Amino acid sequence: MASRVAKGPPPPAAAKTGTDVAEAKKVKVAPVTRREFLFYIWGASIAMILGQSTGILVWFMLPRFREGEFGGVFTGDATKIPEVGTPPANVPAGKYWLSNTEEGIVALYKVCTHLGCLYAWVETAGRFECPCHGSKYERDGTWIEGPAPRSLDRFTLTITLQNGTVLTSNEIGDPIPVPDKNAVSQFTIDTGNRIKRPGRV
Ligand code: FES
Repeated sequence: MASRVAKGPPPPAAAKTGTDVAEAKKVKVAPVTRREFLFYIWGASIAMILGQSTGILVWFMLPRFREGEFGGVFTGDATKIPEVGTPPANVPAGKYWLSNTEEGIVALYKVCTHLGCLYAWVETAGRFECPCHGSKYERDGTWIEGPAPRSLDRFTLTITLQNGTVLTSNEIGDPIPVPDKNAVSQFTIDTGNRIKRPGRV
């Protein structure tokens, strides 16, 4: 005779242990496919290139030279401009001579165009002379004699007159004619923009 099993409510589930809970919390992480890996590498490379490009752009946009130091812009007013026929003004910080001639005003780079010596103004001779090999230059920097292959280099000069007129050096740096230096309100000399003369002219 088969024994009878009394039916009743199911037995309570066994209490979960700490290990069971931890196991349950484990998240299955799918392995990174080759395609995904390459995608991540590509993304990282793009980010790196963009970062470098931005850095280079910022570097180019920042001013390299401050105003008032060689390579930057120098400003002045009529008091800084010598009278026509008087010795050119020596500005060591900007490595230039500011010279006022019958033809106009020029800013001359202080380095001889022969082998780079510093020439000087010789008042008794009324010209610039280089102590190294004897090159000589007019008040406006034009070559006179000596081994220098070309006249003195000039810097871009911009002159603003009292009446608001703005005059700027042309591409070969010809002197800027100013009838009276006291008509000048302000001038700027860009020592970062050197104009080489085309020869001994
Ligand atoms: S460096 Fe000036 S003449 Fe030679």
